[in-house]
Amino acid sequence: MQAIIDELERRREGARAGGGEKRIQAQHQRGKLTARERIELLLDPGSFEETDMFVEHRCTDFGMAETKVPGDGVVTGQGTINGRLVFVFSQDFTVFGGSLSETHADKICKIMDRAIDVGAPVIGINDSGGARIQEGVDSLAGYADVFVRNVTSSGVVPQISVIMGPCAGGAVYSPAMTDFIFMVRDSSYMFVTGPDVVKTVTNEEVTQEQLGGAHTHTTTSGVADLAFDNDVQALHELRRFFDFLPLNNRQEPPTRPSDDDPERYDYSLDSLVPPNPNKPYDMKELIFKVVDEAEFFELQPDYAKNIITGFGRFEGSTVGIIANQPLVLAGVLDIDSSRKAARFVRFCDAFNIPIVTFVDVPGFLPGTTQEYGGIIQHGAKLLFAYSQATVPKVTIITRKAYGGAYVVMASKHLRGDVSYAWPTAEIAVMGPKGAVEIIFRGDLGDEEKIAQRTEEYRQRFANPFVGAGRGFIDDVIMPHGTRRRLCRSLRWLENKRVEEPWKKHDNLPL
Ligand code: HXC
Repeated sequence: MQAIIDELERRREGARAGGGEKRIQAQHQRGKLTARERIELLLDPGSFEETDMFVEHRCTDFGMAETKVPGDGVVTGQGTINGRLVFVFSQDFTVFGGSLSETHADKICKIMDRAIDVGAPVIGINDSGGARIQEGVDSLAGYADVFVRNVTSSGVVPQISVIMGPCAGGAVYSPAMTDFIFMVRDSSYMFVTGPDVVKTVTNEEVTQEQLGGAHTHTTTSGVADLAFDNDVQALHELRRFFDFLPLNNRQEPPTRPSDDDPERYDYSLDSLVPPNPNKPYDMKELIFKVVDEAEFFELQPDYAKNIITGFGRFEGSTVGIIANQPLVLAGVLDIDSSRKAARFVRFCDAFNIPIVTFVDVPGFLPGTTQEYGGIIQHGAKLLFAYSQATVPKVTIITRKAYGGAYVVMASKHLRGDVSYAWPTAEIAVMGPKGAVEIIFRGDLGDEEKIAQRTEEYRQRFANPFVGAGRGFIDDVIMPHGTRRRLCRSLRWLENKRVEEPWKKHDNLPL
């Protein structure tokens, strides 16, 4: 019996050794952890149950029959994060460069199938040279099998990708179809074609980091949500992030005990909006002051900064927060901010997470760049997403809510449940100056008259009471009581249910 047990242990040791000491050292020298070390940091201690540790590839070409490593370059299984179930796969760069073989893909598919069956999120840690070159088309088929599962899982269980090494070619499309992407600075990259091909085709000289590093994808392309300095920081923050997410689309958002008084007033909010309507202020200050314990997990903080997206909690329960940021481009809606917010709204709606929207928006950004870039279609994404969302939607207008952007930003007209305005709100077709220059075009040049008309317009329309008079605004509230009103609204909306007409699926303006 002892011999049998020893054999099991020997085989396990073989699998745990991955690509061997030398390659593990090389991984460490690059500042990267191994696949197993990453899982250990991500999951609760001792919670990981590994599956398919002894799986090996079946390839015989190019001398592969002699080079088999148990596990075949990916560690898979399930464990817990703060006690809640999660499925994980972690590619092992020390084994064939983490490249994806047929069996490697099978392992990933297996845990993805299980995750759907039991309703638990999937976290994929990517560190791979792409398709296993020796396997050719079998490897490509394996990618396709994973892609299909990404699509099937979408909206059923949350999927999170962590990029901790290479991720190139068609391989990028699996993370791209997951809900969130975290990257590590200087050690991870994602691109469809690498710098050499770029040089050949377009004659551009660009480094890996410039083309598809964490900085690029969290500031320029918006492909990734967050960039971290190293593996440890990324995994630590991922644990914190995971706590905000429901396990699947049939669950309510997670709740945890909170000592933060739901009736708490914050009088400093009464002076947050400056008297001069053209002066910016930091919308994040409002968010931090109203959420539980000032904890706000921001997503895409460095991309399309004119809109803020992220998770917070009210009375211990997760809420998705979207807010215009007057500090950047006056909080205007443009292509990038519309897409960023639309995708976030759809995630929240898919996973029963109520949406709180803070509005201070002067409109859509004018210009040929925006029009040629398709702001019509991209702006429609946000409009579509908000209209479609059936989760509780509570909106607070702090200042400007002009024109189409007023309607788009979770207004009552898009099936918003509760709309509150601060006394400083200006809900109108456009700003007073622009309005007067159009309807009193004849007076242009007569500065005194224009100033008088502008003031008249401001008095008449640049306030919350016209909207409130129509019932488009439920109440005009004091800024200091915002948290209290939000908590109460979310409480009574808790059991909101909406019946929708049957359809196969919508035709979102992609
Ligand atoms: C098999 C691979 C591999 C691959 C790396 N290795 N990529 N083995 N298939 N795709 C192996 C190497 O042979 C080496 O083995 C070990 O992994 C480490 O690789 P190095 O090149 O020594 O490491 P490094 O210098 O860090 O370079 C990493 C790399 C490079 C940039 C990823 O290896 C590389 O360019 N690999 C090929 C990438 C690629 O073209 N993949 C196919 C893309 S197409 P030893 O034994 O020496 O340790 C694709 C299509 C997906 O992925 C389509 C989906 C629809």
